[in-house]
Amino acid sequence: MPRIAYVNGRYVPHRDASVHIEDRGYQFADGVYEVCEISRGYIIDMPGHLDRLDRSLRELSIGWPVSRKALEMILGEVVRRNRVRDGLVYLQVTRGVARRDHVFPPASVRPALVVTAKSTDPAVSARRAEAGVSVITVPDNRWERVDIKTVGLLPNVLARQKAREAGAYEAWFVGTDGKVTEGSSTNAWIVSQDGRLVTRPAEHGILRGITRGTVIKVAEQLGLKIEERAFTVEEAKAAREAFITSATSIVLPVVSIDGAAVANGHPGSVALSLRAAFFDVAEKCLA
Ligand code: PDD
Repeated sequence: MPRIAYVNGRYVPHRDASVHIEDRGYQFADGVYEVCEISRGYIIDMPGHLDRLDRSLRELSIGWPVSRKALEMILGEVVRRNRVRDGLVYLQVTRGVARRDHVFPPASVRPALVVTAKSTDPAVSARRAEAGVSVITVPDNRWERVDIKTVGLLPNVLARQKAREAGAYEAWFVGTDGKVTEGSSTNAWIVSQDGRLVTRPAEHGILRGITRGTVIKVAEQLGLKIEERAFTVEEAKAAREAFITSATSIVLPVVSIDGAAVANGHPGSVALSLRAAFFDVAEKCLA
């Protein structure tokens, strides 16, 4: 069965799907995106992802390519046409197609929309969570507006590749103050020695993860204490637990940082219980 993409108004097999060579996403990374998890046929936390999309678009003065209602329908349709039960749906909006010029094109240029979906194996991610993952740390060399979910991800790509080459799963960006900002495509958390969940406030230096928001709700329901503050690499290495969150990984325990084991080097119980309770709390929209 060929994979089907939505491209500017049409559902097309991937081999026929194309965007214009002067799409501003291609030339300037002038666009934004979202990734939602699909679990058992439900799109997870879609309202949160679309609210954040709205914010990203506003911050960059890009219009909605279609109405929010229409986009919800397109996401569901792409998931259904690709028969994805468990996986991811990806959407990207760029400022559209225009002759190359740094200045914004005239208002008559429509934003461009692409939506794709892919299946993933939940058993693989369950095994990953049982084993835990390793992270390395890298200097945070990104621009200041990482709160906007733009497709300009080169520092993230380079960091993630560095992690892969070091045999690790994720790279944590670290600011000049020695504090962890976030992962290349995940938010970073620790459980302190006194049992508090610690994660960086979403005001500055990180993307406000939708999974992060849901995990905070899960933690509240489990009666855990949460501290929204930045933490250093040293503190993370000495923590009781560490973990990462994102739509693609939900909650993944971190068992080593720069080659040093976190606690006993096994996934921690807090991370695993947050993961176990996640779907009870997350918003589920039938695709
Ligand atoms: N990344 N921080 C960064 C830099 C991210 O790229 C992401 C998500 C997150 C977590 O956000 P959320 O919980 O909303 O997925 C944090 C997506 C999954 C990606 O680029 O594939």
